[in-house]
Amino acid sequence: MYFLVRVLIHYCNMQEPARSTGRINGKSSSKVKKLKVKQQDELKLMVKGVTSIAQTDDNFICATLDWWPENKCDYNQCPWGKAGLLNLDLKNKILANAVKAFKPLRIRIGGSLQDQVYYKVGKYPKQCSNFEKKSDGLFGFGDGCLHMNRWDELNDLFNQTGAAITFSFNALLGRIPSDEHNTLWEGDWNQFNAKSLMKYTIEKGYKIDSYELGNELCGGGVAARIKPHQYGKDVKKLKRLVTHMYPNPADRPKILAPGGFYDEKWFQEFLLATGPGVVDGLTHHIYNLGAGVDPTLLDKLQNPFFLSQVAQTFKNVENDAKLFSPSSGPWVGEAGGAYNSGGKHTSHTFVNGFWYLDQLGMTSTFNHKVYCRQSLIGGNYGLLNTTSFMPNPDYYGALLWHKVMGKNVLSATHEGSPYIRTYAHCSKTSGITVLLINMDKSTTFDVSVVDDLNIHPVVYPKSVESIHQREEYHLTPKDGNIQSDVLLLNGTPLKLTSSLDIPEMNPKLVDPTFPISVAPQSIVFATLRGFQAPACA
Ligand SMILES: *[C@@H]1O[C@H](CO)[C@@H](O)[C@H](O)[C@H]1NC(C)=O
Ligand SMILES: *[C@@H]1O[C@H](CO)[C@@H](O)[C@H](O)[C@H]1NC(C)=O
Repeated sequence: MYFLVRVLIHYCNMQEPARSTGRINGKSSSKVKKLKVKQQDELKLMVKGVTSIAQTDDNFICATLDWWPENKCDYNQCPWGKAGLLNLDLKNKILANAVKAFKPLRIRIGGSLQDQVYYKVGKYPKQCSNFEKKSDGLFGFGDGCLHMNRWDELNDLFNQTGAAITFSFNALLGRIPSDEHNTLWEGDWNQFNAKSLMKYTIEKGYKIDSYELGNELCGGGVAARIKPHQYGKDVKKLKRLVTHMYPNPADRPKILAPGGFYDEKWFQEFLLATGPGVVDGLTHHIYNLGAGVDPTLLDKLQNPFFLSQVAQTFKNVENDAKLFSPSSGPWVGEAGGAYNSGGKHTSHTFVNGFWYLDQLGMTSTFNHKVYCRQSLIGGNYGLLNTTSFMPNPDYYGALLWHKVMGKNVLSATHEGSPYIRTYAHCSKTSGITVLLINMDKSTTFDVSVVDDLNIHPVVYPKSVESIHQREEYHLTPKDGNIQSDVLLLNGTPLKLTSSLDIPEMNPKLVDPTFPISVAPQSIVFATLRGFQAPACA
């Protein structure tokens, strides 16, 4: 018995990055499976409280609403239901309560079909029609129409719930597809339909946080693309329009672009064309998990080596923003993880949090200001369930982040297993909050947070001593099933209240002299009030 355990531990140690799966020499052993080796590991987490390494916006969490109609289907399923901007039930109480809980939630209105949407206001360009399947249309659909009564209803909801809105404009209006080059669109952007919508919006007193131009038209594009010089010229035009329409700088919406996949050469040429000070948010999209039907999706979600691969993109966007337009900040303008509406059995479940919360942590360290999750509702990756509107585990993860993680990002490092990912921010209120994501299937990590008050070499790190109880939020899936839609907070399932409100999420209070115990396959936020961090003062 002792020998078997030794062998297993040895085996597990040899197994990185492919971990113990209960198989030895390729043969499955049921005896081994039943044994389930539990391990305990100590981890010292060094947090530097002296300086912050990056800063997010006050409202970092953002979610998208998309235009997809009910007949948007991928892989023999149609997971959007009635969750598109034109057919979503805006009177749903859970929806309103879910948005309200953030005070404010950023919402980005955009997506693939936005570059075929016309706004039925003023002198609109053609007959305004609803999206219909069209084999030669972009993404298989024809043009769509935003009627002003729908825009009023949407703004009613945004006003009631205090949401901060990004509206992303149709950037193809006025252009035509090039004859010679596949997918390239040429000509200047025609701003007049956007101007009419803006005028209407201002007259009605609807608040807009930011305007964006175009969706996934940069680099090689997805269904269509625009050259960087042309795009730069058009974003300057949008900036002039917004400056003209909103003469008071205090309530002038920010300008976001280009809202697509990162391509170094394209982004740099684009930023050279706009010049500094035009773009406020340099938006880019992330679908680093591959297709929604990828059979390895579940493995990728638990593989830290895979999840780290996208870090260079974040660093590049950060550098480009700094270099070419210092007043701008990088934003993830849309990120669904797995593309084509997400994974049917993963994207709405607990395990997706390994990707999502890790992304929030990682992009924060690369100075990203905002992270928009595709989607608030709709597809397999909604924060809310498409049909029942019930919050999925990532909804609660996002809300908890919003409540406890402040905008100043701290360095948090350790020399232990790569399967535990760690991040630290100044708390929203006082002290610091750490985020610990344990992707390991069998190891519990006992994490001691060490206060590194040195600027350069680590000499005498201080252990954290505090009179304050530590506030811990342990997130685990129901029945230990990482593909569950039900999230437990400190062992209790999170459920809507009887009035369909989002439940309170209270921490458990722990004696700070004990380490933070992070169970296998769990996610922990912990607030340390007594942590000395000059960067958070
Ligand atoms: C909601 O609308 C009212 C009336 O226009 C306005 O006074 C208020 O500031 C709006 N609230 C928000 C959060 O946008
Ligand atoms: C929505 O909830 C239903 C019923 O619990 C479930 O079968 C489905 O997978 C969920 N879908 C999403 C996208 O959350």
